[in-house]
Amino acid sequence: MRQLIAGNWKMNGLTEQAAGIAGPLRHGAEGLGCDLLVCPPATLIARVADILAGSGIAVGGQDCHAKASGAHTGDISAAMLRDAGASHVILGHSERRADHGESDAVVQAKTLAAIAAGLTPIVCVGETEADRVAGRQNAVVGAQLAGSLPDGFAGVVAYEPVWAIGTGRTPTEADVADMHAFIRGVLAARLGPAGSGLRILYGGSVKPSNAAALMGLPDVGGALVGGASLNAEDFLGIARAARA
Ligand code: 13P
Repeated sequence: MRQLIAGNWKMNGLTEQAAGIAGPLRHGAEGLGCDLLVCPPATLIARVADILAGSGIAVGGQDCHAKASGAHTGDISAAMLRDAGASHVILGHSERRADHGESDAVVQAKTLAAIAAGLTPIVCVGETEADRVAGRQNAVVGAQLAGSLPDGFAGVVAYEPVWAIGTGRTPTEADVADMHAFIRGVLAARLGPAGSGLRILYGGSVKPSNAAALMGLPDVGGALVGGASLNAEDFLGIARAARA
């Protein structure tokens, strides 16, 4: 399975930065064996999609509403993301779960909306540091998967331990491999053979210097990159470490 290296710009980037990242990516990505995805803030999706048109690099959103349209001031529907040039959408990121109180049920509803609009959902799960210290990471991630993934889910799962996001800390390689094997088992049990073919991304302090080790682990289908995706050279450095 080709790995997917996805960049989550979070709430960063104005027009000038978008061109400064997407332009170099367009040229630097030629000949890479992995798939690349860039998820800028919603205001920049159309612009980044224009810059990357024909490059093979996909563009995604960072969230969508569960409803197709209506009286939801400030929200963005999955169809709007698609209309702006997105093919993917990140859903249930721990920052949205924390900042906006998104429950597993909300994430599941958004996932269904994304699929209905023809977007590939990237559903995020991951334990807090307290969960990890207490040894309940599998129970927490298992419950998030059970609640967030709709029946027949077809998309991407991203495992992002909350304590590894933006901290420079990562789980050990053994811990990442164990969690990805656990998630693979959950997907296979829930979805049958289709669950064996879904990508499971690792996210949390992925950098060029640790990417080869992380991307070399079994059941790691790529990376969801935050901070390092704001620098084209760093993002490409991670992509060069990925499996074709
Ligand atoms: P960092 O790569 O900055 O740790 O962020 C990870 C993340 O949250 C990607 O969605």
